[in-house]
Amino acid sequence: MARILITSAIPYINGIKHLGNLVGSQLPADLYARFMRARGHEVMFICATDEHGTPAELAAAKAGLPVAEFCAQMHEVQADIAKGFGLSLDHFGRSSSARNHRLTQHFAGALADNGFIEEVSEKQVYSIDDARFLPDRYITGTCPNCGYPNARGDQCENCTKQLDPTDLINPRSAISGSTNLEVRETKHLYLRQRALKGEIEGWIDSKADWPVLTTSIAKKWLNDGDGLQDRGITRDLFWGVPVMRGDKPWPGMEGKVFYVWFDAPIEYIACTAEWADANGKTDADWQRWWRTDMGAADVRYVQFMGKDNVPFHTLSFPATIMGSREPWKLVDYIKSFNYLNYDGGQFSTSQGRGVFMDQALSILPADYWRWWLLSHAPESSDSEFTWENFQSSVNKDLADVLGNFVSRVTKFVAAKFGPAVPEGGTLDARAEALIAELETRVRAYEAHMEAMEVRKAATELRAIWVAGNEFLQAAAPWTAFKTDPAAAAAITRLSLNLIRLYAVLSEPFIPKAAAQMLRDMNTGDRTWPGPVAEALAVLPAGHAFEVPEVLFRKITDEERADWQQRFAGVRT
Ligand code: MF3
Ligand code: ZN
Repeated sequence: MARILITSAIPYINGIKHLGNLVGSQLPADLYARFMRARGHEVMFICATDEHGTPAELAAAKAGLPVAEFCAQMHEVQADIAKGFGLSLDHFGRSSSARNHRLTQHFAGALADNGFIEEVSEKQVYSIDDARFLPDRYITGTCPNCGYPNARGDQCENCTKQLDPTDLINPRSAISGSTNLEVRETKHLYLRQRALKGEIEGWIDSKADWPVLTTSIAKKWLNDGDGLQDRGITRDLFWGVPVMRGDKPWPGMEGKVFYVWFDAPIEYIACTAEWADANGKTDADWQRWWRTDMGAADVRYVQFMGKDNVPFHTLSFPATIMGSREPWKLVDYIKSFNYLNYDGGQFSTSQGRGVFMDQALSILPADYWRWWLLSHAPESSDSEFTWENFQSSVNKDLADVLGNFVSRVTKFVAAKFGPAVPEGGTLDARAEALIAELETRVRAYEAHMEAMEVRKAATELRAIWVAGNEFLQAAAPWTAFKTDPAAAAAITRLSLNLIRLYAVLSEPFIPKAAAQMLRDMNTGDRTWPGPVAEALAVLPAGHAFEVPEVLFRKITDEERADWQQRFAGVRT
């Protein structure tokens, strides 16, 4: 038994995530967590809300709420949705927690003690009417690159150019609209990432098994012109982790907070401490996941994220950990994802385009979405959600193949033999061939799941379902029953056992349906299959079962057309 630490990129607090975000981080992380637990490993699966930074402050202002209250409410909303999607998190924490405040301040102190922090005096836009500095998104103006009039201080939405607030033409405050602005000096802390470049490079080069997507992004940022720059880790904001040097005040830094991207990844660690606090555990209980001097040396740590998050996880967060010179666990494997597009364009949070997590759950149960998203995960390239494709996957894979298999077998047996596993007969050559095929396929499925090859795993799982369906069609127990009831008994005994096996194998993808299948088969035996022949003999003759309700329903053409239209426009 191994110990596996799994984290998903922590979603920003300011809005509900769309399906493209979900499939790039939380959902595949859940798939892996469920699989590893099913294999008997000890798993710690962590996620949280990312609550600091200007987006949180601005969204709270828009909602007319104090930012702390806004975050508390939105955390609950996001936690409910995560539950709705069946995310099997051990803890869903908050980056605004006291644990994260202390840990973030601790890391900053350790970095400073080791000479990796520099104090830099820089010029920033100050709003006289608002009596505050205007970092990042607090300032808007005309893009110097493309002339777009509503560019934000950190980036132009129109041409995607990364900007500095002082670059904007005709700048104005995003809070009050005031143009009564001036440039003032302000002091900030910089993390001296360049001093850690060699160490980080050596570490990345040692990760020969990482996905190309991960290492190519990391290397690009390491070696490009503006590669691994020293980075400002503080901001002139009210909301955030106050700048402290460990538990001591930081002279000259009063009233400032750490930059959101400094404290957010530290929340992975803090969240595990929050888990301990919430479950009556000790510090040693969470430290054995994170401190290599406390038992974490033999933990395997895997992170899941979209490609836009890769630089922070391959360079910045490792710089924080390495520079602390303390025995914290570094990530062992980074599984990253490309983008999921939406119906001929892009998902867009700012424009409300596409399907968002709450909307998805309001029209269909989580498993329908989980299956489509995971079986179309944007691994080797971007992928696209279309309603046609969604309808056809759900109707074919889930309703026609898996659902239909379960319903045909159970209904037939209940009608002809009564609602218990039939007795008599022996397995014929066709059944033996099925078992041999499944033996190969189940082992291949395991290998793909272990390697986090999500699409390949889904393809193999679908093939496993199809094999059962084809077997049933060819063996035709309804025909056999008329002349040789014992043969029909052997076929259906195997088939009922297949339902249990399908539940166990499919649980990481479609946990709710899997649970229903096990309930209907009247068993709690979720043992991961060893030899398939043995796994298909778990339910003995005479074992009672129930005929399930429809496992998956089909999506009609009218529904598809309706949803397509409903989600084409802008979310209000
Ligand atoms: N909040 C970021 C996003 O939604 C992800 C932060 S990941 C962490 O893109 F490492 F910072 F935690
Ligand atoms: Zn622009």
